[in-house]
Amino acid sequence: MRPQPRSAPRLTVIGTGYLGATHAICTAVLGYEVLAVDVDAAKIEKLAAGEVPFFEPGLPEMLAKALESGRLRFTADLAEAAAFGDVHFVCVGTPQADGSGAADLSYVDAAFTGLARHLDRPAVIVGKSTVPVGTAARLTALVQDLAPAGTDVEVAWNPEFLREGFAVEDTLRPSRLVFGVASPWAEERLRAAFAPVIAEDVPVVVTDLATAELVKVAANSFLATKISYINAMAEVCEATGADVKDLADALAFDDRIGGRFLKPGLGFGGGCLPKDIRAFAHRADELGVGQAVSFLREVDAINRRRRARTVDLVRELAGGDLDGARIACLGAAFKPDSDDIRDAPALDVARTLHGLGARVRVYDPAALGNARRAFPELDYGTGALDVARDADVVVLLTEWAEFREIDPGALAEAVAHKRIVDGRHVLDAARWRAAGWDYRALGRNFG
Ligand SMILES: NC(=O)c1ccc[n+]([C@@H]2O[C@H](COP(=O)([O-])OP(=O)(O)OC[C@H]3O[C@@H](n4cnc5c(N)ncnc54)[C@H](O)[C@@H]3O)[C@@H](O)[C@H]2O)c1
Repeated sequence: MRPQPRSAPRLTVIGTGYLGATHAICTAVLGYEVLAVDVDAAKIEKLAAGEVPFFEPGLPEMLAKALESGRLRFTADLAEAAAFGDVHFVCVGTPQADGSGAADLSYVDAAFTGLARHLDRPAVIVGKSTVPVGTAARLTALVQDLAPAGTDVEVAWNPEFLREGFAVEDTLRPSRLVFGVASPWAEERLRAAFAPVIAEDVPVVVTDLATAELVKVAANSFLATKISYINAMAEVCEATGADVKDLADALAFDDRIGGRFLKPGLGFGGGCLPKDIRAFAHRADELGVGQAVSFLREVDAINRRRRARTVDLVRELAGGDLDGARIACLGAAFKPDSDDIRDAPALDVARTLHGLGARVRVYDPAALGNARRAFPELDYGTGALDVARDADVVVLLTEWAEFREIDPGALAEAVAHKRIVDGRHVLDAARWRAAGWDYRALGRNFG
């Protein structure tokens, strides 16, 4: 990619979590002057010292490059950010609010208003956080009222589609850029802030604020629905003796359907899909169009049932009683190549098994630290073979490559009983069965 010319806007990135840190680091490597802001002093101290505070392949190397270039700096001071930046990206969290499906917008509101108070010259504040439709319009009024520069400050929305585990690649070469803007000037500023990415022929969709907000939740709703669709088929397979893997394989040959996100298993989790579909359903209710997306509640319910059914299958394999059963749990992160345990199906299953009296041991290649901090009641081990020692049942919960590649013969030597639940449908069933394992996966039939 071409380095950015000197006339490029100066960028700030507010919120340096999974999304913001990646955006700040990658834009600095692309040639922009970037000031990254967070309220978490420990986090920015680590980043400034060259340490990425979470697991993301390739990002530590990019951080080293960004710091070496001298173009990336960190602060906790929004006044400094306002003085420095021309285009401000807001990347703070929008978790699920306590006691409802709504999004908690308190961090977004604090970031926008906190920055606006100091903006005394033209600037664009670009939301990247995932928010309910209508948020950008509300924030525009708030920001223009608070900012000394008044209506010379604009709000834009640029929803983010990066996937944890592929965050660097997705930031440098996104599938598309969506710019929700209220004026040609804001569009020009965004184009300038993404010039090296756009130069790589990345498609740009320019639209209004509300549509940009909706694109993100619509995309996540579609993906969640596809996953729950095949898991609903798995439930039907369980009741009929049909095999969901063959069913999914056969569906995937139809290119109108496609095989991606059509993988049966333990379902989705993480810091985005579950809370985004709940917030979307909640917002649609507020807008009087709840019926249009009422299917999302069913999508959520199917997804939650996967966790319960996985526990049932482990219980069945353990002989009907989990009390005192030794269970080896492979995986804690919500997906491989991430240490993110937010709403992780793996830990939900492990905790339920523990609650039912099982002696659970958990191993994950990257998420053990986070898991230990969040759930100290669970027992953690140092490797797959370690947690599998003397196990009555092994259950694969996160499809890390190192679990997919486990040799059934080597694992057989560690366990008390050769019984495995493949919660992610990633092991070669024939190979495991040939090695003497009682292999089970939801919706599969070996009758
Ligand atoms: N993680 C992803 O893969 C991903 C992908 C697409 C969209 N998103 C969306 O991006 C947003 C951020 O997600 P995340 O996973 O990076 O969250 P995160 O929790 O990892 O990071 C949020 C960061 O914002 C900081 N913060 C909170 N309030 C602040 C304030 N007032 N000023 C400055 N910093 C503040 C927090 O300290 C934290 O470091 C969410 O809306 C999420 O839905 C995330």
